[in-house]
Parts: sequence; structure tokens; C-alpha cells
Amino acid sequence: MSTQEWWKNSVGYQIYPRSFQDSNGDGIGDIRGIISRLDYLVELGVDFIWINPVYKSPNVDNGYDISDYEAIQPEYGTLDDVKELIAACHQKNIKVLFDLVVNHTSNLHPWFVEAMKSKDNPYHDYYLFVDNDGTTPPNNWESFFGNSAWEYVPQLQQSYLHIFAKEQPDLNWKNKAMRAEIYQMMLFWLDLGLDGFRLDAISHIQKADWAVPMVKTDKWRNFMNVAGIEQYMTELKQVFDEYHVLTVGEASGVSSKKAPEWTGDGGYINMIFELEHNQKTGKNGSEVIDLPAYQDVIYRWQRDQLKEGWNALYIENHDNPRAATIFGNDNPEYLKTLALSYFLLRGTPFIYQGQEIGMTNFPYSKVEQFDGVDAKMQYADWLAKGDDELTALKKVGRVSRDNSRTPMQWSGETNAGFTNATPWMNVNPDYTTRNVASEEQDAASLLSFYKQLISLKKSSAAFGTGTIKLITSEPGQFVFERVNEDASYLVVANLTTLDVELPAAIVNNYQTGKIVLSTGAAADITKVKPGTGLIIQKG
Ligand code: GLC
Repeated sequence: MSTQEWWKNSVGYQIYPRSFQDSNGDGIGDIRGIISRLDYLVELGVDFIWINPVYKSPNVDNGYDISDYEAIQPEYGTLDDVKELIAACHQKNIKVLFDLVVNHTSNLHPWFVEAMKSKDNPYHDYYLFVDNDGTTPPNNWESFFGNSAWEYVPQLQQSYLHIFAKEQPDLNWKNKAMRAEIYQMMLFWLDLGLDGFRLDAISHIQKADWAVPMVKTDKWRNFMNVAGIEQYMTELKQVFDEYHVLTVGEASGVSSKKAPEWTGDGGYINMIFELEHNQKTGKNGSEVIDLPAYQDVIYRWQRDQLKEGWNALYIENHDNPRAATIFGNDNPEYLKTLALSYFLLRGTPFIYQGQEIGMTNFPYSKVEQFDGVDAKMQYADWLAKGDDELTALKKVGRVSRDNSRTPMQWSGETNAGFTNATPWMNVNPDYTTRNVASEEQDAASLLSFYKQLISLKKSSAAFGTGTIKLITSEPGQFVFERVNEDASYLVVANLTTLDVELPAAIVNNYQTGKIVLSTGAAADITKVKPGTGLIIQKG
């Protein structure tokens, strides 16, 4: 492993800046707030942070609609604050990744404002406009947020494509001048000292021909990893390579089989956030996710990138409800087991803010508590389909990504220590008992467990560049070995309701080994009970 591949033995932490820490009393998290919490991240032991967008934005999609790529949203601070953040992080050996949102801009971005003026405007071709009379859209494509992916513009007699909200018009990657401006913008940030990017919605930058209809069974395939994307990814890679930065792509539509081409030696990026394992509900709308299906996806990605390629490992992010809720168990020992089930697989693990203290879904009681553009649209949709308000509220509340965006719970003080003003989003009422300050005091807490897990992960390259051997077991029981020339470890995480029965050969191999971490006191290799797990180092 070259030192340029530092991320193979590292741990990442995702910060949702709006909800991490408010420093200036406006109820909104900000960059100086992040700076004030860096010691917490050092203590936790993470190596790099990925911060969701802080660029100037009208905030229709909380920063994923950028109106100025090289300016900071005033609520979050200034460019000088960002420079200070990068310097402070580097001083503490923490690397910094920003979100790179280049599939679309905000409709208030000057390029789009110009584009709307006339068909001859040079910026018009920066976006995807199609002649249209406004009676029916150019095709039947739907946006990820619901309804048609086209918005009609009467003064142009054209419609433009937006695969997210209509305030997020898609950029036309076929336009060379547009691409050149994007690459220039990336250099601006890299020259400022960023260590990498999380590439938002990157597999969507190429679209199919407008004549290809959407099919209901595979709704997004016309803008997911469509042929022709290779050229743009290659150009992006040239910029990344020049600076040797870390790149993590949100790349839905890139299959596990294809992933090694993207993330292996000579691939476009270093790792992929696959979205396939994200489940919000289980079979037949059941509230608890389908564990065997979840595990199948994760194991398939492990197997398909066994030698070539690299995984980004995560159980939570800003687009999903809280794991403690959707796995149906917020008991700390179960959450420790959940941590064990993914953290030491082959790849780079990420923790999403609040996951390490076991934050749960918000108990929604009225629609005004939703913030997300998607949640509001889904709510209206359920009402239109005939649900009463309470039923619609429950359905959306359960799966909404707003759940993961409630303020970070630092302490049992007012507003969980996030702000001394009214928080932009309600704090989860369980903050009085579930918070960083109390878990820091408790050696048996989930937070303390994460600290040990991170330190263990970083103590041996077996967990990074070592090989992985997945051991077939009961679905929902994660059992695997991590091995390199110096050490062998067995990881067992039992998320099921049955005891784990390990193959005799494995028991023989590890019986005399040392339990280096376990989720509870009575850990025993011959009987890993439901909702528990352990790690044994071979003797
Ligand atoms: C990604 C982001 C999501 C955002 C979308 C549009 O999926 O994770 O939060 O809404 O892109 O930029």
C-alpha cells in the first residue's frame, strides 16, 4: 500500500453541518461550530471528515442546490472560516472532504439565471432544455423526489430536466465549456487544501437519449451510469490524480460487478457508496428491515470487490432514517453488534454524526415538523391517495431522511447543547438520556464501544489491507476473518434471534485466542447469543 492510499486503514466521519453545532446563536449549525468540536473527533479517533455542502444555496435541498460554488452560505460562515477549519483539522491530523455537487446547480445559480433568458444565451446549453409546448413533458421520466423530471418554461417554450427538485436543474455534461468551469472550480477548492471530495449523485451526470422511455420496474436507469459517462469520469480523474485526493462516489447504478472498474487500480475514484443495501422498510411494508436481504447485498459487494476495488462501509447517512430505529432495536448492546457487523469489513468505514451515540428516529406528531422537500411531497402524495393526515404522517415519518438531520445530542442541557437559540429543526426529545456527555462518562456506552472499535481497527492493517474471508452462516449473522501476515482476527456479529453456531474448524482455530473486543461481558466463542458480538485475535 502506498502512503497515497492512507484511507485504506482509516475511519471517516460524516458531518451534517446544519445540525452539528451552532456557534453564533442562530439555531443553525456552522463551520465555527465544527471547529469547536474537533477535540471530540480526535478523542473518537477518526481520520477524516466529510462535510455535507456548505456552499451558497437557497436551501431548497439543504445545500444540494448550489447557487455559488466558490462562496460559503452565510449561515455557515465565511471562506476564512473554511480555511481555518482546514488548518485546524490538519493540525489535528484530520483530513477534510467536501461534497462535490456537479450533477445539477440551483435554479438561482447565475448560469441558470442566464440560461433562462434566451435560447441563444451561451449558458443555455449548460443545462438540458428541450423544445416543448407545455401540454405534455418531453418524455415520461420521473424525478427522484416524485412527479415529472421536466419543468416547462413558457417564455422559452421549452422544458428543462431536473432529476431531483425543479429548483435543481441538471447540468449538461456534453457541454465542454461547462465541464471546464467545473474542473476549474474543483481546483479552487483543492488549492485551498481540501483532501478530497464526496461526489454527489455522480453516476447521474450522463443521460440516455430523450426518446428512451422510463420503465416502471427500473425507473432511474435512464440517468444511472449511462454509457458515455466514461469520458467525464476520466476527465474528473485527471483532476483528482493531480492532487492525490480521496474520492468517494455516490454512484447508484454502478453494479457490484462493475464496481472494481470504478474503484480498482486505475479506476476513476477510490470507493463507492453503494445505495443498494439501504432499506427503509422491510418485506410487505413491515417496519423492521429485511435483514437477510440487507446482508446479501453487503456480502455481494464484499465478494465482488474481494481483490480489485474498495468499499465505503456505512449504516447511516443524511438520506436515511436512523439505524437504531429501522433495525428495530435501540438497545446499546444490539447497536454495538450492528457496529461490529459492518465496521471491519473490507473497505473504509464511515460513521454518521449521532450514530455513535445511538440516535433514533424523531417521534413526529405534526406535519410542520418535516423540513425536507421530499418529505413534504411524499406527505401530499399520501393525502392525495386517500390517507388521513395521521396515517400519512406516520408513513412519511418512519422513512423520512429528516430523521437523521435532527440536531446532534451533545448533552442533557437545553437543546442538547447544540444551540442556545431555537434550533432550525426540533431536537429529538430523547436527548435528555441519549447524549455525548453522559455516554462519555460510561465505559459500557455505545460511544465508548465505538472508540475502542476505531482504535482496534487502526491498530492492525489486517482490518485495512488484510484479506477478508466471509464465513457462511445464518442470514443476519455477520461472521468473517481478517488476516494479514501479522495477525488473524475473527469477527462475529449476531443480529438475529438465534445463537451463532460456528464451524468446528473456526472454533478450533480461535478457541485459544484472545477476545479483543466484545459487546457484553459474557462473551464466548462457542455461544454468541442474539444481539451480541465479539472479535477474537488468533493466539
Ligand atoms: C444525493 C444527496 C442527497 C441530495 C441529492 C441531490 O443523493 O445525498 O441528500 O438530495 O443527492 O443532490
